[in-house]
Amino acid sequence: MITATVLQQLAETHGTPLFVIDHDELRSNYATFIKNLPRVQAYYAVKANPDPVIVKTLFEVGSSFDVSSIAEFEAVYEYIKDRPEPEQRQWIKDNIIYANPIKAEETLMKLDKYHPLVTFDNLEEISKIRECALNSRVVLRLRVSNAGAMVELSSKFGASHDEAIDLIFEAVNAGLTVAGLSFHVGSQTTHFKNYMQAINLAALIFKEVKERGYDKMNLLDIGGGFPAPYDESVKPFSELAKRINTELDRLIAPDIKIIAEPGRFIVATAGTAVSKIIGKAVRHGKLCYYIDDGVYHTFSGVIFDHCQYHFDAFKTGPTQICTVFGPTCDGLDVISMTEELPSDLERGDLLSSRNIGAYSGATSTYFNGFPPAKVIQH
Ligand SMILES: Cc1ncc(COP(=O)(O)O)c(C=O)c1O
Repeated sequence: MITATVLQQLAETHGTPLFVIDHDELRSNYATFIKNLPRVQAYYAVKANPDPVIVKTLFEVGSSFDVSSIAEFEAVYEYIKDRPEPEQRQWIKDNIIYANPIKAEETLMKLDKYHPLVTFDNLEEISKIRECALNSRVVLRLRVSNAGAMVELSSKFGASHDEAIDLIFEAVNAGLTVAGLSFHVGSQTTHFKNYMQAINLAALIFKEVKERGYDKMNLLDIGGGFPAPYDESVKPFSELAKRINTELDRLIAPDIKIIAEPGRFIVATAGTAVSKIIGKAVRHGKLCYYIDDGVYHTFSGVIFDHCQYHFDAFKTGPTQICTVFGPTCDGLDVISMTEELPSDLERGDLLSSRNIGAYSGATSTYFNGFPPAKVIQH
C-alpha cells in the first residue's frame, strides 16, 4: 500500500489533483485471483481502467484481456503488434475476448481477420456477425440474476434460459462456430449465490446442446462481478472462490476451458486520488469542503458506478460530518454529503481517497475547463 507520506511527497512533486496507480497492488490482485481460481484463465476487463500502463503491467504478468471496443482492443494489441502475424493471431485467439454483446458492423469487419471470440445474445446480432465477421467464434451471453450487485447489467444484456438453445442453433445454422457460454452476475456482487445459480444454468445448457448433437462448445466465461474490498462488509475473495471452484468441479467437464473477466477486483484497490482543498464554507449549518477534483473527473464513479468513495485527511483533529464538493459550477458535482473529516482543515490541505482504481478516472472529462487528474504510475 502506498503510504500517506509517499502520497504527500507525490503531491508536492507533481501538484494536485493526482490519480496514483500502485502497480504492486495490481500484480498482487492478479496473483490472488489466479491462485484462488486455479481452473480459471483471467481476462482483465479493460473497461474497468484502460490506462495503457495498467494494461502493460497485466500483460507482463500473463493476463488475458476482455475488450469491448476497438480502442480497448488496440490498447492490448499494442503489446503484441511487433510479433510475427501468425503468432499475433494465435495470441489473440487464446487471450482476447470481445465481450460486448452488441457490436458495430465496422468493429466486426476489423476484427474478423483475427478469428475473434465474441459474445452475442440475440438473433439480429447473429445475422450481423454472419455478414461482417464469419470467422468469429461466438459465445452466448446468458441472462442471470444480478440481485445484490452494485451495478446491474441483466436488463441490458443476456439471453434467457428459454431463448438460449434456439439462439445457439440459429448461430450454428448461420454457419458460425458457437464456442460456449458466458454470463455476468452484476458488478461488485454481494450475492455469491448468483455465481452458483449461473454455473448451474450453464451446465444445464451445455448438457442440452450436447444431447441435441452439437459438440463444439468448449468454453465457459464466468464474467466479472468479483467484489473489491471497499469495506468490511465484503466477504473475503477466497470464500467466493472456494464456492465457485466447488460448483465448477461438480458441474463443468474438465475439457471445458473456463475464463473470467475480472475488472474491479484487479484494479479498484490499486488507485488512490489525492486532492487539495480549494475552498471552505458553511451552508445551512453544515461544513462544506471544495476540492480540486470531482464527479466530472476522478470521482466520476459516484455517478456512473454508483460508488461511494471515502476521504482521509492528512491532519488529525476533532471531526464532524461534512459535504465534499468538486470544483465545477454544476450542482451535480457533489462527491459526498456525509464525510467525517476534521473540522479545521484549511485551504491547501490535502485529502486522499483510496480504492478508486475502477470505473473512476476512466470516464473523466474536461468539463468546465478543469483537466483530469495527473496520473502517477507508482
Ligand atoms: C461484459 C463484462 N465483463 C466484465 C466486466 C467487468 O466486471 P467487474 O468490474 O465487475 O469485474 C463488465 C463490467 O461491466 C462487463 O460488462
